[in-house]
Amino acid sequence: KAGLKYFGAATDSPGQRERAGYESAYAKYDEIMWKSGEFGQTTPTNGQKWLFTEPTQGSFNFTEGDVVASLAHKNNKLLRCHALVWHSQLAPWVEAKKDWTKDELRSVIVSHVTNVMKHYKGQCYAWDVVNEAFNEDGTYRESVFSTVLGGEEFIELAFQTASRLDPKAKLYYNDYNLESPSPKTEAVRKLVKSLQKKKIRIDGVGLQAHLVAESRPTLDEHVAAIKGFTELGVEVALTELDVRLQTPANATNLAQQKEAYKNAVGACVQVDGCIGVTIWDFYDPFSWVPFVFTGEGAALLWFEDFSKHPAYDGVVEAL
Ligand code: XIL
Repeated sequence: KAGLKYFGAATDSPGQRERAGYESAYAKYDEIMWKSGEFGQTTPTNGQKWLFTEPTQGSFNFTEGDVVASLAHKNNKLLRCHALVWHSQLAPWVEAKKDWTKDELRSVIVSHVTNVMKHYKGQCYAWDVVNEAFNEDGTYRESVFSTVLGGEEFIELAFQTASRLDPKAKLYYNDYNLESPSPKTEAVRKLVKSLQKKKIRIDGVGLQAHLVAESRPTLDEHVAAIKGFTELGVEVALTELDVRLQTPANATNLAQQKEAYKNAVGACVQVDGCIGVTIWDFYDPFSWVPFVFTGEGAALLWFEDFSKHPAYDGVVEAL
């Protein structure tokens, strides 16, 4: 496992898993997740998000996030923490109010970041401080945060606030479609440089890496995108790797998927400063993919019957 600090799998607290009715698979699932030695790190897929942690203004609930955090601790897995300021899975009260003043929304962000980071202080290797703030063309995504405060200001406020709370946690900007160079990777590079110039701490860029088997990036594209960030002096991690394919899986798309995993993991291993890889769960029935992308699935490394995808060997070859 050459240059990587960790290879991990995200997981959800049992009551929140995508597919109900799979309770009989939990024993085997838990064995692979926590005991097998396959993974050295985890991320809660849902429990630390705003919707769960501050469902109504000023009342915080860490129940779901704590389930995964304490399992990680108990089983000696590094924990990545996810995600503080994000337009999605946001508590409805943040969006319901249409007339936030700038000052009000600033204090909403400061209070959220402060309370959640204080609760998890000392437990997180890294925090995704801001998630998915850019469009594909590099402009700021429309959200309550960018509408009221502007993209630049809310991102700066989130990082500025986070920088004071847990000196040991690396602060990441995290987004999807950053795996090959594009206007979006350029925008994130600009953001990193601008925060650095303003002396606001940012330690890493998370490349979610929700990839598509049929149109996977090449190894060189991955390397170029990753280097584009590491050369700025921040670290990189692949934070939510999965490779979806048009179901049903067959020999052709599984071979493409294997290449996709191998390219992504191989690029990270190859570039100094790419420090870890997290797959977004490992067991197909608990993947978010079929719920969001119609006709696609089988995106992870273990099939429903717990046999391994060919892509598992692709990962092993890359490490
Ligand atoms: C997904 C979870 O896996 C699902 O369970 C949930 O219903 C929706 O969110 N980008 C992110 C992750 O940063 O938080 C998302 O996780 C997947 C896309």
